[in-house]
Amino acid sequence: MVAVVMNDIAQMTIKFTEIEGIFNMNKYIALVGTNSDKSTNRELLQFMKRHYADQADIEVVEIKGLPVFNKPDNMKVPDAALAIADKIDQSDGVIISTPEYDHSVPAALMNALEWLSYGIHPFVDKPVMITGSSYGSLGSSRAQGHLRIILDSPELRARIMPSSEFLLDHSLQAFDDDGNLLDQEKLSKLDGLFADFQTFVGLAKQLNHATSINRQEASDYSWDKQ
Ligand SMILES: Cc1cc2nc3c(=O)[nH]c(=O)nc-3n(C[C@H](O)[C@H](O)[C@H](O)COP(=O)(O)O)c2cc1C
Repeated sequence: MVAVVMNDIAQMTIKFTEIEGIFNMNKYIALVGTNSDKSTNRELLQFMKRHYADQADIEVVEIKGLPVFNKPDNMKVPDAALAIADKIDQSDGVIISTPEYDHSVPAALMNALEWLSYGIHPFVDKPVMITGSSYGSLGSSRAQGHLRIILDSPELRARIMPSSEFLLDHSLQAFDDDGNLLDQEKLSKLDGLFADFQTFVGLAKQLNHATSINRQEASDYSWDKQ
């Protein structure tokens, strides 16, 4: 009788932990680093959203349709960029998946980051995981290197997960008809990096002693006052 009751309590504790886990899930914004209608980077993020659904709430967000950045005199940021900034603000972290064009990030991604650092600073101290896919054998490695440098700039100041790279090479052949990653070694690597990102996000939440100063410095920073 005692054993049965103990077992029931253990089962209830497991269920309670599962429910608590759902309420405590981190929310991530997954930025598709291209404006192409067909994109293996979008496929990768959509796969991650499904594959990690029991561990995190991932929202895939598009940068399509943003006007080309032109440093407007009135500093008016388009509503679509403000909406993305708001989502990033509310999130626990951002995943950016970048294609590689001419050994760097696509102009569309650079354009989005320019708007997202023009008088608004949603990336300051925000944990970021970088992934990328490309059709060739290098899997966007050069673009990812550039993206790290860009995200470190004074008006972005993101907290990029260190020493981590997820490179999806030959990305046109990487998914099955249901959009699942075919290569199990790649998937194990992605699982490991995503688990690391969850830990990194927890650590980054404690690295908050300079956040208000970092935000202030980012908002005070002006290229026009050089
Ligand atoms: C103009 C142009 C330049 C490209 N340059 C590169 C490159 O430097 N390195 C690379 O691996 N792939 C390059 N590619 C192929 C890309 O891998 C591919 O278009 C894209 O990155 C895959 O991402 P997506 O499926 O999300 O669009 C290039 C493609 C285009 C159209």
